[in-house]
Amino acid sequence: MRKKVVIANWKMNQDFYETTSFLRNLLKIIFEINHKKEIIIAPSFPFLHISNQILQGSTLSIAAQNIHQMENGSYTGEVSASMLKSIGVQKVILGHSERRKHFSETNDILIKKIKTALKYKFIIIFCVGETEVERRKKEHFLSVKYQLEETIFHFSLENISSFIIAYEPIWAIGTGKTATPEVVQVMHQYIRSLFMDKYGKNISRKISILYGGSINDLNAKSLFYQKDIDGGLVGNSSLNIEKFMRIIQS
Ligand code: 13P
Repeated sequence: MRKKVVIANWKMNQDFYETTSFLRNLLKIIFEINHKKEIIIAPSFPFLHISNQILQGSTLSIAAQNIHQMENGSYTGEVSASMLKSIGVQKVILGHSERRKHFSETNDILIKKIKTALKYKFIIIFCVGETEVERRKKEHFLSVKYQLEETIFHFSLENISSFIIAYEPIWAIGTGKTATPEVVQVMHQYIRSLFMDKYGKNISRKISILYGGSINDLNAKSLFYQKDIDGGLVGNSSLNIEKFMRIIQS
């Protein structure tokens, strides 16, 4: 059975008070419902430590939204894998299209980040997804395949259990334009087939592939119902506790 995962990517939202009160409230509600999913929250760097303390002893965990590829050194403003490890962070989101777009993260940089993350034994939530133009030109499969080939597929079989894949079509992120469950299912099946060709049946069956892009409490159920969609990477709707809870329950 593949892991079902719901991840809240809070991006550059939620201050100290909002982060801590959200998590305390979430814990109270979570105890009351019977859920079997893995729930991961990715707050901003300054609040990872307190978030980890709040979630200690619960089934919820935290993820960082980024790490720097170098292990230490003169990189003003950056945060290293070992710093995060030292405060108990064990998961990280890499390859997000917002980082590719606004911070010029290339596949080469991502390979370095993956190497560092693997060295520090992080679980890596790795994002791939095509642009609107690529989809219009029917190049979406090619685009996703290329992103995988130029990053994760550089790594050997024994590393692959450290990855969770998130398919996030760029045109669906923060736009309210969710991809239909059928469109996502086809892409997830395709991604799974790429893992099968590269690493074999066992890995392709086991790897969790999440969808991200304007998931909300109304569309989550039909998305998660698809056989190759193992959960979601949620942006906007994860900032509202009621909506996020309904997504978890979906
Ligand atoms: P939205 O849910 O706001 O579209 O964001 C998706 C996303 O980028 C999650 O990483």
